Amino acid sequence: MQNYFRATSYINHWLDAVDEHSIHSPFFYEFYHQVIKSTSDRDHFLEIEKTREVLLSNETVVSVKDLGAKSPHFKSDGRTISKIAATSLSPEKHCALFYRIAKYTEAKRIVELGTSMGITSLYLSKIERSKVITFEGNPWMINIAKSNFEYFHQKNIQLIEGNINQTLPDHLQNPVKIDFALLDANHRYEPTLQYFEWLSKRMADRGVMVIDDIYYSEEMGKAWRELKKHDLVYGSIDLYRCGILFFDIRLNKQHFVWSL
Ligand SMILES: C[S@@+](CC[C@H](N)C(=O)[O-])C[C@H]1O[C@@H](n2cnc3c(N)ncnc32)[C@H](O)[C@@H]1O
Repeated sequence: MQNYFRATSYINHWLDAVDEHSIHSPFFYEFYHQVIKSTSDRDHFLEIEKTREVLLSNETVVSVKDLGAKSPHFKSDGRTISKIAATSLSPEKHCALFYRIAKYTEAKRIVELGTSMGITSLYLSKIERSKVITFEGNPWMINIAKSNFEYFHQKNIQLIEGNINQTLPDHLQNPVKIDFALLDANHRYEPTLQYFEWLSKRMADRGVMVIDDIYYSEEMGKAWRELKKHDLVYGSIDLYRCGILFFDIRLNKQHFVWSL
């Protein structure tokens, strides 16, 4: 059922996708070229990608209970680090995209829900003068992410441990504005909407939020359809694997379907 949903969503996405010729807004035209289609900064991440390679060849078995949507890739809690790395980390192309979005928006305060082994957090932490606050609940993932952060001496990453359902509202007691948020945990309808509601109250005027895995399941598809129409959202881009939401009131409710 899930596979059928993903396949039909992919075909629909492919049919709906437009290219630069359909973009009339100067902001989105520039965003398309400078962020979505750009391949700059690649050499910046070679060391992080070497760390991914090490994780992809680590056959140690760890115990992982799904805190959010059940992973279709595993039948039990005993899982190899290599298979978790292969199935749950954002691929290099998407990590680089998240970095470019946050850099383009000059993000200073970045929130990531779902640290896993910290690969995307490391990409985001490369943005100058940024602070990355990343949330994770699985003790094994926390340990691996912490050792990766120590290895890279990244002092601008704060890892918040525990279930996001509790840790996120606690953290948001702090009224500091968020420039860039990546929702990449608990891929279910209600938690996704709830996390959006909590975070949206703290987004900066020109803040950007990325929702990962928007066609992971029917319930994620439903969440995405509702979020892009939310009153606080003034622009959206559907890239199939993820969706980008813009909070800048000047964008005048424009919505695009693009391929990456
Ligand atoms: C898809 S992975 C994140 C990948 C990471 N952002 C990256 O790109 O490398 C999702 C992570 O969210 C964590 N997670 C899911 N639901 C959670 C919850 N309710 N509280 C805390 N962590 C959660 C899982 O343990 C998992 O490590």
